[in-house]
Amino acid sequence: MRKPVIAGNWKMYKTLSDSVDTALALKPLVANANHCEVIIAPVFTALKTVCDRLEGSNIKVAAQDCSTEKEEGAHTGEVAAFMLRDVGVRYVIVGHSERRQFYAETDEQVNRKVQAGLAAGLSVIMCVGETLAQREEGSAQDVVSRQLIGGLGGLTASDLDRIIVAYEPVWAIGTGRTATPEQAQEMHAFIRRVFADRHSQDAADALRILYGGSVKPDNIVGLMAQADIDGALVGGASLKADSFAQIVNYRV
Ligand code: PGA
Repeated sequence: MRKPVIAGNWKMYKTLSDSVDTALALKPLVANANHCEVIIAPVFTALKTVCDRLEGSNIKVAAQDCSTEKEEGAHTGEVAAFMLRDVGVRYVIVGHSERRQFYAETDEQVNRKVQAGLAAGLSVIMCVGETLAQREEGSAQDVVSRQLIGGLGGLTASDLDRIIVAYEPVWAIGTGRTATPEQAQEMHAFIRRVFADRHSQDAADALRILYGGSVKPDNIVGLMAQADIDGALVGGASLKADSFAQIVNYRV
């Protein structure tokens, strides 16, 4: 059985005090959510305080990115994965489409970030997803399989249980236009097949694949009903504790 994961990506929103307020408001609302892993990803400057304030709760903290570099060094503006781990972070999101689109991140860089996250002891949520133009020209699966294979190159079998894949079609992010559960299911099943071909059927069966892109309280149930959808990476609807809690508590 794959334990679902519901992760909130706060992107570049919220000051430190807003982050702490939202995290603390969320805590009691999801305290009984044992059916899934609950993760929030605040901005870098809020990570340490949010980790400290959530200690002992069932909410884990993710960073939204990390450096490609594993070791400390002269890399102005970067934060290494081991530094995230040092302040209590347990997960890192890498390869989000906003990083690929606006910061020109390549699969090779994403792969180095995956490796850096794993080396630091973090679990990695690696995002993949096609643009609208790519979907319309029929290359969505090619794009996603290239991102998967490129991003996850060089991993050993023992790394795989700390890999989570998030399928986020770019055309569904922040647009209010969600993929239908069937469209998402089709790509998730494809991702699992690619993973099985590259690694093993056992590893593919255990892989958690999250859907992301305009997930809301009113569409989470339909998405989670799909066989290969193991959770959600939520942007806009994770910014408010009550709407994110409704998504986390989708079964009740
Ligand atoms: P959205 O963002 O839920 O606001 O569409 C999802 C994401 O970018 O992770």
